[in-house]
Amino acid sequence: MSFVAYEELIKEGDTAILSLGHGAMVAVRVQRGAQTQTRHGVLRHSVDLIGRPFGSKVTCGRGGWVYVLHPTPELWTLNLPHRTQILYSTDIALLTMMLELRPGAVVCESGTGSGSVSHAIIRTIAPTGHLHTVEFHQQRAEKAREEFQEHGVGRWVTVHNQDVCRSGFGVSHMADAVFLDIPSPWEAVGHAWDALKVEGASGFLGGVCPGGRALPTLLGSGSYDPEVRTVQATLQLGPNPHPC
Ligand SMILES: C[S@@+](CC[C@H](N)C(=O)[O-])C[C@H]1O[C@@H](n2cnc3c(N)ncnc32)[C@H](O)[C@@H]1O
Repeated sequence: MSFVAYEELIKEGDTAILSLGHGAMVAVRVQRGAQTQTRHGVLRHSVDLIGRPFGSKVTCGRGGWVYVLHPTPELWTLNLPHRTQILYSTDIALLTMMLELRPGAVVCESGTGSGSVSHAIIRTIAPTGHLHTVEFHQQRAEKAREEFQEHGVGRWVTVHNQDVCRSGFGVSHMADAVFLDIPSPWEAVGHAWDALKVEGASGFLGGVCPGGRALPTLLGSGSYDPEVRTVQATLQLGPNPHPC
């Protein structure tokens, strides 16, 4: 299983998303001999998960059932263990579009946080791109590395455990795009500039934190020629046009 490529059958070590009913989901790591308690009863990984196709409807101990879904970055965003505030798919869609991310892109990001944005970026830039993600909190950096390996995407990402405002992104003149979701993005503008390829590059400051204070840094030095756009993304849910 990989978050980047679909595989049909569930294996030991995979991450699977259990859909328990309307709006209720949980992520599980599939392990031979393990059990997961759900509100519909117990799910035995060896019997109920391993070897079955993703998408299966599986009956649990008390007779209720769950759907076992293949993981995607969007489902992971809804089910990941929160170590920080995270960005959700509406904002991630916006930044993916504004940064013009595509397969083959080299991207720098900070902070890694809970890896919500990172998983989506990796899925978009694979199989030939690379993500450099910078996180100064040691445990968060280590946990993110571990999750990227578990999710089969480790080869497309390097986690740098350092302060992006002091030490930058660990790469120079390589990135097609930079994304900052830290409390003080203006302190990293110089490093973002250094990380970007000189021509044709784009940067996006902000996320859950205001990027506006970065503007004096961008304009003040005279080195940058920023195009500044303020965008608010809202998600509107309407009736399902194709009810089953
Ligand atoms: C809001 S979280 C990022 C969430 C992430 N975008 C996601 O969706 O999962 C901000 C993260 O930035 C990290 N951080 C803050 N300042 C930093 C800095 N100067 N250098 C590196 N990481 C930093 C924090 O430790 C935290 O994990």
